[in-house]
Amino acid sequence: MSKFITFEGVDGAGKSTHLAWFAEALRQRGLDVVVTREPGGTPLGEQLREILLHQPMSIGTETLLMFAARLEHVEQVIKPALGAGKWVISDRFSDASFAYQGGGRGMDWDKLRQLEQWVHPDLQPDLTLFFDVPVEVARKRLRMSDRAGTNNTSLDRFEQEQSDFFERVRAGYHKRVQQNPHRYVVIDAAQSLETVKDKLQEVISAI
Ligand code: TYD
Repeated sequence: MSKFITFEGVDGAGKSTHLAWFAEALRQRGLDVVVTREPGGTPLGEQLREILLHQPMSIGTETLLMFAARLEHVEQVIKPALGAGKWVISDRFSDASFAYQGGGRGMDWDKLRQLEQWVHPDLQPDLTLFFDVPVEVARKRLRMSDRAGTNNTSLDRFEQEQSDFFERVRAGYHKRVQQNPHRYVVIDAAQSLETVKDKLQEVISAI
């Protein structure tokens, strides 16, 4: 039976590295796995991603574009793949809008709920892996990544935010987890890569 799994966490938590490993481990078990991401996942969504990550805009515009890209993603990619019996793993989904636009930028939580209800009323991830890490650890990892270079010019609009923004993002994620605990596995991403992999192996065995 198909499953929809999402990966979430603040920038620098390490989720993308773990996602690649997780998808490969599922494929090795013979599953047909589609890996995708947000914002993005469709040709239009990837164009919107480019704008969202680099173009200054109001919070409302940012929120609506995130959900516009998501609507396209749900209809063109996620639902068809699930309908064909595939497993879909998405690097971020609506939890990121609650955490970044809601927590980080202060967008009204009820407005986000309305958009969620509009864009995917009958779809939620079967499972969300939330990579939780203290903000200072995540910031350090981001600074050390090649992309950051020496003067951070290659960081995108979100990555350039300060620590207090990421504290609010992290709190936004925690609020989401509290509101719907059964959907999440919270992973302590401050641990070593090997320890996190062991945890992911347990998750795979359980599902
Ligand atoms: P990210 O997933 O971290 O990709 P990369 O690893 O390539 O940097 O980048 C996407 C950014 O978009 C991230 O900073 C979070 C942000 N974002 C939102 O603010 N709201 C959303 O709804 C989504 C999906 C992402």
